[in-house]
Amino acid sequence: MAQSIEVVPGLRHYPLYFDRAAQERLRDALDGVLAAAPLFQPRMPRTGKPFSVRMSNCGPLGWVSDEAGYRYQPGHPETGAPWPPIPEALLALWREIAPAAPPPEACLINVYAAGARMGLHQDRDEAELSAPVVSLSLGDTALFRVGGVTREASTRSFRLASGDAMTLGGPARLAFHGVDRILAGTSTLLAGSGRINLTMRRVTRA
Ligand code: SIN
Ligand code: FE2
Repeated sequence: MAQSIEVVPGLRHYPLYFDRAAQERLRDALDGVLAAAPLFQPRMPRTGKPFSVRMSNCGPLGWVSDEAGYRYQPGHPETGAPWPPIPEALLALWREIAPAAPPPEACLINVYAAGARMGLHQDRDEAELSAPVVSLSLGDTALFRVGGVTREASTRSFRLASGDAMTLGGPARLAFHGVDRILAGTSTLLAGSGRINLTMRRVTRA
């Protein structure tokens, strides 16, 4: 089993779970995914204010957000095409670090340019909350923040670097979390700079 650190109860951080060669293979597989499912600019419910990250998805379901709200849907919001399959290396990661969970149905792809961030939020649009959220990071290091299950709980931050995996499960499944900032120039993996985070989730009850 890979080495991991339990940062807060239920949040496990697996530094450099994917070595450089595995990161390069996944990066190249994502080129195909993003050719089939181009990045789109999500918008906040009601206000329509754009997120600072761009997104896409793979898997049977994808997470989208616009004026109508947050939701999972089987097709791309702009092209209507079904999402492409989740790359096998990510499915293998899920099987390895979430062996008790039913297979993931959604893999959200978040692309952070320098200056992008993600405010504190909970992942709670899923009906199956017994499965963890499993994430893998590529490219520049993120300063990731995690708190408790209420917005008022104290928070702490740590760095997620290229190749790092993380699970949010058990008591941390509904923990507030977000990305304070991207540390530009900390990785050479991606052309240009920036960061890609892949977040797999089980959506429907198994
Ligand atoms: C997310 O919570 O959707 C993304 C987290 C991350 O970018 O690490
Ligand atoms: Fe999240």
